[in-house]
Amino acid sequence: MGGTPIPNDIKLLDENGKRVDGRRPDEMRPIKIEAGVLNKADGSAYVEWGLNKVLAAVYGPRECHPRHLQNTTRALVQCHYNMAAFSVDDRKRPGPDRRSHEISKITSEALTHVVFTEYFPRTSIDVYIEVLQANAGTRCAGLTAASVALADAGVPMRDLVASCAAGKAADTVMVDLGKEEDNFGQADVPVGYVPRTEEIVLLQMDGELTHDEYTLSLKMAIEGCKKVYEEQRNALKRRYQVRSVDAVEEPKGVA
Ligand code: CDP
Repeated sequence: MGGTPIPNDIKLLDENGKRVDGRRPDEMRPIKIEAGVLNKADGSAYVEWGLNKVLAAVYGPRECHPRHLQNTTRALVQCHYNMAAFSVDDRKRPGPDRRSHEISKITSEALTHVVFTEYFPRTSIDVYIEVLQANAGTRCAGLTAASVALADAGVPMRDLVASCAAGKAADTVMVDLGKEEDNFGQADVPVGYVPRTEEIVLLQMDGELTHDEYTLSLKMAIEGCKKVYEEQRNALKRRYQVRSVDAVEEPKGVA
């Protein structure tokens, strides 16, 4: 981000105003969300967002270990973000690193704002985010998936957190930066947004923007979050409808 020379064969914005993958500056990559994909977790979700593939699993609320971390008045929301070794072109060295610690921390903080943690003192709500394929924007995809997984686990929340980034590449403010735009662009602003309360629970900035560019980036990212929110809600509705049909089905084989 910022300063990396652009290879000659990559044009971040062409003469028709189209981006590397043919999108307009205000166009997001396609997003697909599925809730309840894992049987062994209390809640789960799978997100495909452009070429990103992210899985989230939730366990808890359950007794918090190690015990010295327990909070006597509320639950801890503990996120663990991990990128699989095979998720990027160059094999990623397995195990935690500075970046995964940072993303785990900001995701935990964003979700703590919406979970009614005060209902579950001394417990931990563990959220595992596994990036299976990465193509820029994985923290947004991870937070989006984690939030659906929490709802799927039945964890009481004020609302879902929806996440999307905007930024600047080829001197143009654009939403949902792809890999080339992230690598060779000028700035990236990931946002976590709570639509019901209009709160921002995650805001980061990598690169440099003028005040006007920042304001436009934030506006575009929030518009993106609203679209993501619709997809999150639809995924949960699909999951709930399937369950309710199962629940009312008549027992078979009764004369
Ligand atoms: O994924 P996100 O945009 O939230 O975070 P980033 O730190 O800005 O990383 C941008 C992208 O760089 C990731 O999505 C990966 O595609 C790539 N990356 C990589 O190839 N190897 C790493 N060790 C870390 C990131």
